Amino acid sequence: MTAEYIPFNRPYSTGKEMVYAAETQRNYHLSGDGPFTKRCHRWIEEHTGCAKALLTHSCTSALDMAALLLDFERGDEVIMPSYTFVSTANAFVLRNAVPVFVDIREDTLNLDERLIEEAITTRTRAIVPVHYAGVSCEMDSIIAIARRHGLRIVEDAAQGIMAGYKNRALGSIGDLGSFSFHETKNIISGEGGSLLVRDAEFAQRAEILREKGTDRGRFFRGEVDKYTWQDVGSSFLPNEVTAAFLWAQLEEAQRITSERLAIWRRYHETLQPLEQQGLLRRPIVPTDCQHNGHMYYVLLAPEIDRQLVLDGLKQNGIGAVFHYVPLHSSPAGQRYGRAHGELALTTSLSQRLVRLPVWFGLSESQQQRVCETLTALVKR
Ligand SMILES: Cc1ncc(COP(=O)(O)O)c(C=O)c1O
Repeated sequence: MTAEYIPFNRPYSTGKEMVYAAETQRNYHLSGDGPFTKRCHRWIEEHTGCAKALLTHSCTSALDMAALLLDFERGDEVIMPSYTFVSTANAFVLRNAVPVFVDIREDTLNLDERLIEEAITTRTRAIVPVHYAGVSCEMDSIIAIARRHGLRIVEDAAQGIMAGYKNRALGSIGDLGSFSFHETKNIISGEGGSLLVRDAEFAQRAEILREKGTDRGRFFRGEVDKYTWQDVGSSFLPNEVTAAFLWAQLEEAQRITSERLAIWRRYHETLQPLEQQGLLRRPIVPTDCQHNGHMYYVLLAPEIDRQLVLDGLKQNGIGAVFHYVPLHSSPAGQRYGRAHGELALTTSLSQRLVRLPVWFGLSESQQQRVCETLTALVKR
């Protein structure tokens, strides 16, 4: 008998998504910025403390908006980790800026704040902390560096909803921030995202860029008698059906996060003996970080062949996966970006990382099977 397949991810449904989606039809409002979008905006603003939240098609488009808002000139530099998703860099490359890749910390796999200052040049304009696995970067140090050098901070909090740093919500700490609601994230709408604007400075312009460069938002609020082309922009706003789906998830955000944290803790406890035996390293969460159970990964001991472990898990019906191929090693990363130093930890840690299934509904017995299979494979 073949064992039941345990997928890496299974999108969770609260059961309300389609009920709310049907409501958009009854409201005769399917395009963006209807009542569900407004509810989602308010929820994000209330739960993060940002001045303005704006739903987007994805975290990618939220980052695109952030890069547009910062008005880069050709050759301006943006400091970011190489160990991240392509969208972190693409947004800035599209504005003719140059990603400068800095190595990561060994404990959190986040941008190493101790290396940022030496990567700053006269062209540096911004820092992009990516909160890997919903565990915050060392934001106080990054804010202090940004202040000293007059730089902007754009948080890539794609994985960071409901997570915090010193009790401040990720995404709301930098000048601009971004969430992802892609189906692999904690809170989902299939594809989806949000831009978070920390204070009023960027709020009005962000609204205009998102609506094709027009002041349609002001027109709908009755603040102007017609809307016109005001600025550059594009169509970044999702339709109301997506927002309705998202609303069903946001309503349950606390429960979803708690469930994921319980799964995360079970892995953490069960895999402790393997760490003690030197076969792998478990994630490290600094005390200042309140994570959200987005991801459970292990770093295999350097002598263990990761591909054999991934293949073994797959053969046993378990969907485990590796993660980012460092951007500085990729063709576009080399064409458009610049590595600051060797990035030795980025290269070595990214090759040792295995992500285990984490999704609402993953049972204790399924988790037990994942751990037993992993144990057998790393001991082989
Ligand atoms: C760090 C990071 N940034 C950005 C993104 C892009 O998110 P989206 O798929 O919503 O565009 C991802 C996607 O996984 C990510 O991991």
